Amino acid sequence: MARKVILDVDPGVDDALALCLALFDPRLEVVAVTAVAGNVPADQATRNVQTIIEQLDPPRWPRLGRALPSDVGEPANARHIHGADGLGNARFDVAELHHLHSSEKVIADALRTDPGDISLICLGPLTNIAAAFRRDPALPSMVDRVVFMGGTYLAPGNITPVAEFNMYVDPPAARAVVQSRTTKTMIPLDVTSKVSFTYDFLDQLPDDTSRVGRFLRRILPFVYRAYRQHYGLESIHLHDAVALQYVLEPDWFLTEEMAADVEVAGELTTGATLFDRRVNRQWRLNLEVATRVDNAAVSQAIVRGIRQAAHAAGA
Ligand code: BDR
Ligand code: CA
Repeated sequence: MARKVILDVDPGVDDALALCLALFDPRLEVVAVTAVAGNVPADQATRNVQTIIEQLDPPRWPRLGRALPSDVGEPANARHIHGADGLGNARFDVAELHHLHSSEKVIADALRTDPGDISLICLGPLTNIAAAFRRDPALPSMVDRVVFMGGTYLAPGNITPVAEFNMYVDPPAARAVVQSRTTKTMIPLDVTSKVSFTYDFLDQLPDDTSRVGRFLRRILPFVYRAYRQHYGLESIHLHDAVALQYVLEPDWFLTEEMAADVEVAGELTTGATLFDRRVNRQWRLNLEVATRVDNAAVSQAIVRGIRQAAHAAGA
């Protein structure tokens, strides 16, 4: 039986690719896709979720949730990596749906309808999950598992020297989720950055005759240019697509149980993920952290998943 999941995303090119893989994977039933502000502001994130679903047109459309502006001021964004529109400046037309419920409500309603059966796959800041948990304190016990892409274990950050982007954008939300009584797996930069995609990845994409090929060929090239310009790299990371693979093939990852927290107020360290590794540990163990990954298996699975999605989505 397919595993029920909600994808909470801030598209973002790597979010878009993760969605593309999830929507056509027979092992998953995507019950909802909820937008969150992150790579782009809330309105754009919502528009991008609609664009992605419209462009890919999966056989069964998931419920969609609207991102609300975060209450921590003007948040950081990652438009330099994902394009001004978050989708590689591809300029898709989209007929905006009005009256979408907020992401927080969509998540809460889905969990209440199917308590214990739904996993949350969080690929952006944890704003929506924290808001839903705040709204109803019983919700954390209704989640099967939270898998989130974010934080760093031993690696440096990518938005500050010590903070990963998703944690940095909304540290109080990240802290609330990390401290919540749910089963959680954190997929940090340490593992997502181990999987690199060189230019030949573009050649392996399905061609323009397929819906998936057309979509990915429009959004991915910008990220290669951005990585070269900002990091001097000839390859890219697709963090969120790697995190999704953990849900599909957990055996390709090594995880360790940890006692974790998120810095919310440090002058230099806001958004940093911290772990109590003392011999006489004082914090409670509260999540699993992925510390190693079979990067060859994961990158091959992503290429295979794209081909399978292209086949399933058709022309
Ligand atoms: C994370 O930040 C975003 O830019 C990506 O979409 C990913 O979720 C990586 O730090
Ligand atoms: Ca993301």
